[in-house]
Amino acid sequence: MDISTTLNPTPVDDSTLAEILADPGFGDHFTDHMFTVEWTPEKGWHDARITPYGPLTLDPATSVLHYGQEIFEGMKAYRHDDGSVHLFRPEKNAQRMNSSARRLALPEIPEADFIAACEEIVKVDERWVPGSEGEKSLYLRPFMMATEKFLGVRPSRHVTFMVIASPAGAYFKEGLKPVDLWLTEEYSRAGRGGTGAAKTGGNYAASLLAQQEAYDNGCAQVVFLDSVEGRYVEELGGMNLYFVYADGSIVTPATGTILEGITRDSIITIARGLGHEVTERRFEIDEWRKGIESGDIVEIFACGTAAVVSPVGSMKSAQGVTPAPASTELTMKIRSALVDVQFGRAEDTQGWLTKV
Ligand code: PLP
Ligand code: COI
Repeated sequence: MDISTTLNPTPVDDSTLAEILADPGFGDHFTDHMFTVEWTPEKGWHDARITPYGPLTLDPATSVLHYGQEIFEGMKAYRHDDGSVHLFRPEKNAQRMNSSARRLALPEIPEADFIAACEEIVKVDERWVPGSEGEKSLYLRPFMMATEKFLGVRPSRHVTFMVIASPAGAYFKEGLKPVDLWLTEEYSRAGRGGTGAAKTGGNYAASLLAQQEAYDNGCAQVVFLDSVEGRYVEELGGMNLYFVYADGSIVTPATGTILEGITRDSIITIARGLGHEVTERRFEIDEWRKGIESGDIVEIFACGTAAVVSPVGSMKSAQGVTPAPASTELTMKIRSALVDVQFGRAEDTQGWLTKV
């Protein structure tokens, strides 16, 4: 893929950038450039370019605005102590973007082009990658959308893929304090035969009312159950879940209607490496309540690119409160094992890092 580059003539000045990187928050600031490439059935992917970051001009009839034919990814670039910058398992994000693309009737993008686009935006905006202190990173948001102008309901014949980047600190303002969860028994995030396993905006749109309910009840994330029986735990609005038993075994809900996280997958490898038995299976909401009550479940944690690994606190619902698990010990051990690889403080035995 040939990429043309037009540098931003007015990049953010050094002192403003230093201020932003000192406390980036999450998703509030954007780098000086963005990557764009277009697709049509006739020309395939074409016109790849890096340009100054800025607003898009879209016709009001652009189909993504009406039917939500859109997918996205989330990944991070990490700075190591020697100054080098690394992506974590970018090929996994490329593969998941293409499986989302298939579900949303969008064109696949060659894995190498996806990775090249991410690498190029990191290279051109390298000064935006924070230092490794405080576990800061540069969050990359690749996304693909239907950009044909028409109102009929059919897959778009003009598609745009972009990558934007945003320096990231902690996702949860409270830091590593266990996150309290709101269990919604009213709303589903994804249905049978639906788009739950794809990373598409509509899933998040469907989650927002429940998310607001969570905030209103003092909780940071929503627990979604399966939409058929309302009995099995699926995932949180933006993270996957893990349950740790007193005997050291670990259960994580099975896939199919959940977004299969890359952090989730990495943690299965890490936990097995630490000698824990990890099972992927359907997990009933009653097992959660009873496991806490009996003390059989000793830890619960959630994971995702943005939020890393976070201990889970209490679970609230209209029916009452299930208290927080007793411990966060293994959660913190797994969390360290993961971030130590990401920040180059532990050996990358799995070949997870790609140096930019
Ligand atoms: N589940 C949902 C709904 C998400 O939005 C995310 C975040 O990307 C995850 C799970 C975790 O996925 P990953 O670890 O690939 O970031
Ligand atoms: C990510 O972790 O990359 C996500 O997309 C989750 C979102 C809640 C920020």
